[in-house]
Amino acid sequence: MRERTWWKEAVVYQIYPKSFSDSDGDGFGDLPGVIERLDHLERLGVDCVWLNPVYESPQRDNGYDVSDYRAIYPEFGTMDDWDRLLEELHERDIRLVMDMVPNHTSTDHEWFQRSRSDPDGEYGDYYIWRDGDTDANGDPVPPNNWESFFGGSAWEYDDEREAWYLHLYDVSQPDLNWRNPAVRDAMVDAMNWWLEKGIDGFRLDVVSLLSKAEGLPDGDPNNEWVGSEHFVDGPRIFEYLDEIHERVFAGTDAVAIGEMPNLDLEHARRYTGPDGPLDLVFHFEHVGLDFGERGRWDVGEWDLLDLKETLHRWQDGLAWNSLFFENHDQPRSVSRFGDDERYRYESATALATILLTLRGTPFVYQGQELGMTNGTFESLDDVSDVDTVRNVRELIADGEVEDYASIRHVVEHRTRDNARTPMQWDDTAHAGFTDGEPWIPVNDNYPEINVARERERTPSVLSYYESLIDLRERTDALVYGGYELHRPDDEQLFVYTRTLDDERVVVAINFSDREATADLDVLDPEASLLVSNYEDVTATPAETLELRPYETRVYEQP
Ligand code: GLC
Repeated sequence: MRERTWWKEAVVYQIYPKSFSDSDGDGFGDLPGVIERLDHLERLGVDCVWLNPVYESPQRDNGYDVSDYRAIYPEFGTMDDWDRLLEELHERDIRLVMDMVPNHTSTDHEWFQRSRSDPDGEYGDYYIWRDGDTDANGDPVPPNNWESFFGGSAWEYDDEREAWYLHLYDVSQPDLNWRNPAVRDAMVDAMNWWLEKGIDGFRLDVVSLLSKAEGLPDGDPNNEWVGSEHFVDGPRIFEYLDEIHERVFAGTDAVAIGEMPNLDLEHARRYTGPDGPLDLVFHFEHVGLDFGERGRWDVGEWDLLDLKETLHRWQDGLAWNSLFFENHDQPRSVSRFGDDERYRYESATALATILLTLRGTPFVYQGQELGMTNGTFESLDDVSDVDTVRNVRELIADGEVEDYASIRHVVEHRTRDNARTPMQWDDTAHAGFTDGEPWIPVNDNYPEINVARERERTPSVLSYYESLIDLRERTDALVYGGYELHRPDDEQLFVYTRTLDDERVVVAINFSDREATADLDVLDPEASLLVSNYEDVTATPAETLELRPYETRVYEQP
């Protein structure tokens, strides 16, 4: 019998607590709010929650700027609330994965404060400090040409220490110096502290960036993220991750999930292989298919062949994948890959089918189970996300775009705020998210798209998610089965089989807004229908399948 592992069988639900549910009317989601909504998760049938960071933080990057790894940010609640959340989840047999941010802290963290004020003290070497040069005019110039992911130089000059510090993200997120064993100890201690509280694992934020190349050399200026070849999967990354594995995860059944920007297949195999330090990794290839010629801040064309080719290469090349179309950094998938108007239900459920029947661990992001869509952002003042605001300001300052109006369509397609508009619970004010003023406006379509409405109507995106999650739970072939792609060159159909011993499931999806017909040799005439997103489908397939726009069929072979 193959070895069963909980995180392979689990469907993970991601909660972005700031936007999930507000219990006290301050417009900011909180932990008691999450607790009040656990019945929704139980009904949906998910097995694990990944909670975005709830640690003490000035919230410049919504909690990815941590100022104390062992305290809860007061607007989210108290440690008692957090303890209660863990208990209530476990009572429902739902596990909890916390988000750990090991690459950087907030500048408000005591470590940084002490590092800046006392270079020779205990914390002096906790961050990556360098003396810069001066240019011909005597002005300070940064130590190298690396760029921040959020735009501009990755270096900031600190007047107090009179030196530059590295920040691969916001200027308030200084990178920790992982060469310093004391930093590694501190991070390992923080993780073990949470594990001892009984959590079930960590999602490790940008964990492939921990090791920077010796000497911090200049990067190729033509790279989209300048410097990245010197800090993505850097020289000592396996040493650091092996150490984390040994000191935190080894001997536990806690899951280690690495978020890894710019990850390629070869590294993914090493990270998650039999001797690899991680269980699961997130790669971003499929959510980069719609980048344009100018990269992320440009919208390009993609088609089903691209999507199939990418997903297939990872299905084929990696023993176990993380499956996702959405998270708190990505726009809504139905707006991006589907059709959020005419075929919103059909295309959201087609995406759900891919998510829940490919081989790997599926991650459902809050609101995805309703088919929530992208928002409208009329001006840059309507955008909260530090990534969007900084990058757009920079593009305008550099003269690459004239003004907000000329890049608005890109922002509306791409901004992370699309994922961060409040969860839509019902059709009362602010979608039932808060009794106060939400920190970010609710999507206008909430009277039509919300949990209560989804529960009433048939068919609904929500009930489709419920039935597919239930099907995956009952069908070993959908978890442990092998995967085989059929009709790779079909421009409308995505067809694959999942096979385990004599259990065989055929998945056929018309991922287009036109009718499609096909004779599927792989489909047995006696096969029986397990699930479809259309209602009037016969129990056994016709010789020629006729699939309506975004129609899905999942069959079990006799
Ligand atoms: C990750 C997080 C993102 C954050 C960044 C910096 O990509 O998912 O939200 O801004 O890391 O911590």
